[in-house]
Amino acid sequence: MAEIPANVEQPTQEQEINPWSVAGATDAEGNAIGFDYEALSKKWNTSLIDQALLDRFEKVTGHKPHRWLRRGLFFSHRDFDRILTKKEKGEPFFLYTGRGPSSGSLHLGHTIPLTFTKWLQDVFDVPLVFMLTDDEKALFKDSLTFEETLHFAMENAKEIIALGFDVKKTFIYSDLKYVSNHILMNTWEFSKLVTFNQVRGAFGFDGSTNIGRILFPAVQCVAAFATSYPEIWTDEPLKERKKSIAEIQCLIPMGIDQDPYFRLLRENAHKMKYPSPKPALIHSKFLTALQGAGGKMSSSDPTSAIFMTDTAKQIKTKINKYAFSGGQVSIEDHRRLGGNPDVDVSYIYLTYFEDDDAKLEEIYNKYKSGEMLTGELKALAIAKLQEYVAEFQERRKEVTDEVLQQYMTPRRLEWKGTAQPKVK
Ligand code: TYM
Repeated sequence: MAEIPANVEQPTQEQEINPWSVAGATDAEGNAIGFDYEALSKKWNTSLIDQALLDRFEKVTGHKPHRWLRRGLFFSHRDFDRILTKKEKGEPFFLYTGRGPSSGSLHLGHTIPLTFTKWLQDVFDVPLVFMLTDDEKALFKDSLTFEETLHFAMENAKEIIALGFDVKKTFIYSDLKYVSNHILMNTWEFSKLVTFNQVRGAFGFDGSTNIGRILFPAVQCVAAFATSYPEIWTDEPLKERKKSIAEIQCLIPMGIDQDPYFRLLRENAHKMKYPSPKPALIHSKFLTALQGAGGKMSSSDPTSAIFMTDTAKQIKTKINKYAFSGGQVSIEDHRRLGGNPDVDVSYIYLTYFEDDDAKLEEIYNKYKSGEMLTGELKALAIAKLQEYVAEFQERRKEVTDEVLQQYMTPRRLEWKGTAQPKVK
């Protein structure tokens, strides 16, 4: 997502970011001028990811940081350094992320935190729990029924599996279907710690908000407690939650819009009967809409998004027709004045999908100098996106109902990247 350049006037309409709507700042004429992620990090008191943290990551894991880390597309965190310490000491921790199934298919933007989570699962070799908030989507979208969102959850789960998560280390569940005593106990206990004033402050609820929405934050939060899934840690049937399991820390990769939930969680985790450490968070920027600055790719506006079900032809048409260009109006002007890769959506997409840093830099320089034309830049982006989506679609074909069932069955997970927790 384009950042607000230093020479642009202060916005007249502030950026608004919450789990249900995201809008960049606009100038006096109402033109979109993008997101200011540094300001957001300051306002929400998160830590920016710096080179020292990336160096430590490489030292601890032996892996080069993912290109999205190197390029600041994952830009902020809370306590990620503590997770690195756990990894260093071999102490257990786990990953948790989720998806709100508001439609039957993911768009490219959703796959960013999810693909990154898969990469973290590979690098850390730890368990992952994946929550499908079909309850949330029916509660927050008046037009959707619970039956519909449950159906979307199952369709989405197949796409999520196609992103490559390791079945041995992954438990995917639907809120509407997976109910354990432990998760209920955690939800009710957590709900007792949080007042209406707190959720009103965090999410803008008021007196006419349905009570399902008011409870829901507790549901999304307690998924970060290891005690919510005793089955993944031990074969022994546990009648009660265990202190030793509660102590397993969680790392949550997400788009920054989800942070308000987890602030609530971090304020209250230690107050539970079985206290948990504050979960660590790692935040991504938004993959920009095809139209460019100020918009986030969104399922509700099909011209803003590339869907993971799009054909190669649709991808080509969408990029050629809608992707905002930083080029000049004529070829002559472009050759003379050069283009602006910083606002060019095709270039921005290449920053996500071209792994080769040197090649990316070359494209940047050639476009900026006018040597590379808009059509050429678009062709590069089209090829990269077609490749990413086609590989995904090949894997998606392999995901049958039986495969889905394996991922969604509560069971003991298997991993090697940390010690096994001692259940006492
Ligand atoms: P949902 O379905 O809105 O989004 C799923 C994940 O995708 C991120 N995201 C994006 N990231 C980059 N660019 C975009 N354009 C873009 N659009 C969406 C979201 O931030 C999110 O990480 N309530 C959640 C589901 C959930 C969850 C979680 C998410 C439950 N537990 C824990 C993250 C972590 C939701 O509706 O996500």
